[in-house]
Amino acid sequence: MDFLDLVKARKSIRKFKVSSISDDILKYILECGINSPSACNIQPYRFIVIRGRFKDKFCKEVFSGIYHFCSFVKDAFVIIAIIRNKKSFKMKIGELVTDCDFSLIDIGICGQQIVLAATEKGLGSLWIGWFDREKAKKMLKVSTDERVEILIAIGEKGEEPSERKKKTFDEVVSFIE
Ligand SMILES: Cc1cc2nc3c(=O)[nH]c(=O)nc-3n(C[C@H](O)[C@H](O)[C@H](O)COP(=O)(O)O)c2cc1C
Repeated sequence: MDFLDLVKARKSIRKFKVSSISDDILKYILECGINSPSACNIQPYRFIVIRGRFKDKFCKEVFSGIYHFCSFVKDAFVIIAIIRNKKSFKMKIGELVTDCDFSLIDIGICGQQIVLAATEKGLGSLWIGWFDREKAKKMLKVSTDERVEILIAIGEKGEEPSERKKKTFDEVVSFIE
């Protein structure tokens, strides 16, 4: 499969089949995240893999009230919480000088490597930004220097969404010579 095919094969999955993923595949997917580039190679994140009974409790809490819309992810085999370290000294210096928070870019890259690895393994995935971060922080016992930035659900697909319309090349790309 060429890379563009893999990229296009990834679609947000909002219906998962209850099933399992082997530890080897899970490890492979996480290694793809760990081997991402990051500014100064700081890798300002760690992953917490949420599964089993704790996942049920976690979903009940973080997808309640206004966040209920995403509660369908309880059927995914795992939810990977990407925890961002906000306090690295090097990172703060970089941000001060360049006016750019590289840590969020770093998280975007590693998260996308994770979802593409899951796609390569035939699995469905979903980025989840719509959850109660305060409750997630408490449940995952995350320190005050850290933030539960984003969740990624991975599991067996329970749907095959049709191709999502994306902006065209000309809408997005310009050249200056
Ligand atoms: C940072 C980020 C956060 C997202 N949060 C959610 C979410 O909370 N719930 C959800 O259903 N989809 C979420 N999505 C998925 C987007 O809605 C989806 O990527 C977009 O509609 C394009 O569809 P596609 O992923 O199938 O190409 C999120 C995507 C990204 C990148």
